[in-house]
Amino acid sequence: MSIQWYPGHMNAAKKKAAEQMENIDLVIEVVDARLPEASTNPMVEELRKFRQRPCLKILNKIDLADTDATSRWADFYNAQDGVTAYPMTTKKPADVARVLDLARKLAPHRSVPTKPLRIMIMGIPNVGKSTLMNALLKKRVAKVGDEPAVTKQQQKLYLDKNTILVDTPGMLWPKIALPTDGLMLAASHAIGSNALIEEEVAVYLADEMLRYYPELLVARYGFKDIESFDGIAVVEGIAAKRGFRQKGGDYDFEKASHTFLGDYRSGVLGRISLETPASRAERLAAHEAEMAIKNAEKAAAAAEKARNAANGKRGT
Ligand code: G4P
Repeated sequence: MSIQWYPGHMNAAKKKAAEQMENIDLVIEVVDARLPEASTNPMVEELRKFRQRPCLKILNKIDLADTDATSRWADFYNAQDGVTAYPMTTKKPADVARVLDLARKLAPHRSVPTKPLRIMIMGIPNVGKSTLMNALLKKRVAKVGDEPAVTKQQQKLYLDKNTILVDTPGMLWPKIALPTDGLMLAASHAIGSNALIEEEVAVYLADEMLRYYPELLVARYGFKDIESFDGIAVVEGIAAKRGFRQKGGDYDFEKASHTFLGDYRSGVLGRISLETPASRAERLAAHEAEMAIKNAEKAAAAAEKARNAANGKRGT
């Protein structure tokens, strides 16, 4: 499954982000707590480190994520230089209310009227940036940048008298480091998917749930003998339980996939994380090993071709 990158948009966003990074004190990076690494754009880290800006890493949507996995991710990010992890949900005003305090701690030399703290919120689509911004802005005291020249280039909003939110640099797409990243992002609705892909995504999610959360499948759909199931059987089982049939009587796999993904996205299946630091490390290692084999095969094929060409020349 391939995800489209839009090089034009990405380059424009990168250029703007690089410029803005110079004029801010702190990056608030929002990721999806259910898939923190898959929902990251590495450009944020690259640009932030280049300018040595600290980062408040918000693991958002913890209301949907596995609590244990989230606390492992928080430890993972807190161990990184210049990063403070903050697991939260924008659904809880008390969680939102702590954001600015945490931000201030990361840039203690700012946050006075003469030197307001300048923040930029970054992240891939659908992780909850707008929801967070709106929640923070609810309390804002004034808006600057109403002059057309300023607004056009860079909008600045006062969150309080000592804190400015600088406009985000636009679309940042996820970087698909692993093939499963695309599936996780589609399952979590961070990227769109058509019907055909939706079925593939549903089977992927079902396989993951069979491995890590079989009890949640049983609780929701009342499956018996789940030990004998694979991902396809889960989706078919949902079609059977819900009476989703096509005209000829076959299971309506598409409708069952859609229902299953909807149940996951809305949280009715329970709190589910699609990766942990350990599972991510495992997948990265497996992917690297696979790539090493492929590269070795390619190199062997190229050597063989060169040998054949040399033999051919000698023969003429
Ligand atoms: P973005 O600016 O990063 O693109 O994200 P946005 O704020 O638009 O949020 C995307 C979706 O995520 C919204 O749902 C929003 O309500 C939801 N969301 C944001 N924060 C949280 C959170 O802490 N918990 C939960 N459960 N949801 C959150 P939506 O418009 O219904 O979109 P979708 O989820 O159907 O794709």
